[in-house]
Amino acid sequence: MMQTITNDKKEKYSSLLPIVRSLMEDENDDIAKMANLAALLHQEFGFWWTGFYRVQCDELVLGPFQGPLACTHIAYGNGVCGTAWQQQQTLVVPDVEKFPGHIACSSESRSEIVVPVWNNGHIVAVLDIDSRELGTFDEIDRLYLEEIVTYIYGPERDIWFAAGCFWGAQKFFKMVDGVTFTEVGFANGNSKNPSYKEVYTDTTGHAECVHIRYNPNVITLNELAELFFKIIDPLSLNKQGEDEGSRYRTGIYYSDNQDFKTLQAVFKEQESALGSKLMVELLPLQCFYTAEEYHQDYLDKNPNGYCHLSQEIFKLAKELRRRS
Ligand code: SME
Repeated sequence: MMQTITNDKKEKYSSLLPIVRSLMEDENDDIAKMANLAALLHQEFGFWWTGFYRVQCDELVLGPFQGPLACTHIAYGNGVCGTAWQQQQTLVVPDVEKFPGHIACSSESRSEIVVPVWNNGHIVAVLDIDSRELGTFDEIDRLYLEEIVTYIYGPERDIWFAAGCFWGAQKFFKMVDGVTFTEVGFANGNSKNPSYKEVYTDTTGHAECVHIRYNPNVITLNELAELFFKIIDPLSLNKQGEDEGSRYRTGIYYSDNQDFKTLQAVFKEQESALGSKLMVELLPLQCFYTAEEYHQDYLDKNPNGYCHLSQEIFKLAKELRRRS
């Protein structure tokens, strides 16, 4: 009997893999991808709770899920989810009552599996699945779910560019071949979930920033960083075009330490070419908060809106597109 259940489970996961792959390939938005993945797994296996917690700076925040209401914030190292994040590994919990520190969002949950979701060498979320039965999850679930979550991000990588006003910077990078997704937001400041108005006061420490996702098989980080230097004045501190303030500082923020060396080499080249100290930050990304919807793709929505970048700059992006 046990053998049959095991084989059924394997077959079910195997038949889901191509569906998951195409669902993930056809979508760029992380939340949308996680939402459909949670729905698919939940529906196919009839779990009690299936969903994601996303890493937001120093904690996990509830993401797309299916099932009953759940707790919204989990600290690093807390519960099964926070422990899987801390230990950087999948945790299979056959009996939640025997897991010290388990967070009981629902008293009905008896067993659980938590699988870290990696992107750019970092855990960016966890997939959490709960069952009302004891011992529901095993090695088969671990293996298949670990594979399934790799489809969320695929080979794509992320980098964050602060290049002055984020409206023009987003418009520019959207035109570059190999860039598959962009969003504007606020990076490396001190306040949580800041609004544009708050950042505008220049007291939050956040920089206007464009989050860029790219396919490294089409454009390299090195090439992207060189393009970044073409659209900024790297010798100007806290001022790009007419925009002044620390929120308009320039910087490249990375989430994978492996990227540091590549970027450092580009910075060194730029510095020796200019013969002067760069006023550009090169730092790990500490946090990024997406800006309000009306700031996303602002210059597509408002073609005559303010843009600190010249038309020449956009010609360059078009030019590159033609050559590739
Ligand atoms: N049980 C989890 C909390 C999330 S709920 O299961 C949805 C934990 O201990 O981390």
